[in-house]
Amino acid sequence: MIRLAIQKSGRLSEDSLNLIRECGISFVNSSLKLKTEATNFPLEILFLRDDDIPGYVADGVADIGIVGENVLVEEGKQALQVKKLGFSQCRLSIAVPKNAEFDHISGLEGKNIATSYPNLLQSYLSGEGVKAHIHTISGSVEIAPSIGLADAICDIVSSGSTLISNGLREVQTVFHSEAVLIAHQDLTNEKRAILNQLLFRIDAVRKAQK
Ligand code: PRP
Ligand code: MG
Ligand code: ZN
Repeated sequence: MIRLAIQKSGRLSEDSLNLIRECGISFVNSSLKLKTEATNFPLEILFLRDDDIPGYVADGVADIGIVGENVLVEEGKQALQVKKLGFSQCRLSIAVPKNAEFDHISGLEGKNIATSYPNLLQSYLSGEGVKAHIHTISGSVEIAPSIGLADAICDIVSSGSTLISNGLREVQTVFHSEAVLIAHQDLTNEKRAILNQLLFRIDAVRKAQK
């Protein structure tokens, strides 16, 4: 039996479940249960906060996981990555209030930027030689400028509708991301064999989609 961690609710949840189903794996899914077992494959599925998934897989609490590269790289756990999955593409971008002046990233020198991705943002700003104050908040980042918490934000953009709804304008992409499969680094031989079967099915599904 292998344990897979996926996002409980969010951008990756539906696509992650669809991938498992397309692999021919059946399971009962109720939105209140945080754990379920497949009926025709040695797989247990855990539904977790996406931010927690790299840590659980690193510790071996879950054997494998599906998570956005953005979360994986933010947490410095790239070594766990097994495969890019080609769905849930998004970007991490800096945005400012739509009427704010903005010519160049250097204009953010000394400004306050709110984000849930302080490491990714810091490494981008360092590369550009810009020093800004980074305020780390865990969610609802897009509200920060309108309540006076920050001059700019750095958050995940997919369709862009969250930015528009909050009166923000995307000015600079910092990181491109998609869903990736990750695995604990020393799986038992039995688990490694199950993972290989799963990878074989994922490759077949992805080839059929091309
Ligand atoms: C991101 C971001 C926005 C949304 C943007 O959240 O924080 O809430 O996606 O998408 P849009 O451009 O299509 O409107 P994410 O799904 O990464 O989840 P989390 O922040 O709750 O972990
Ligand atoms: Mg999250
Ligand atoms: Zn978010």
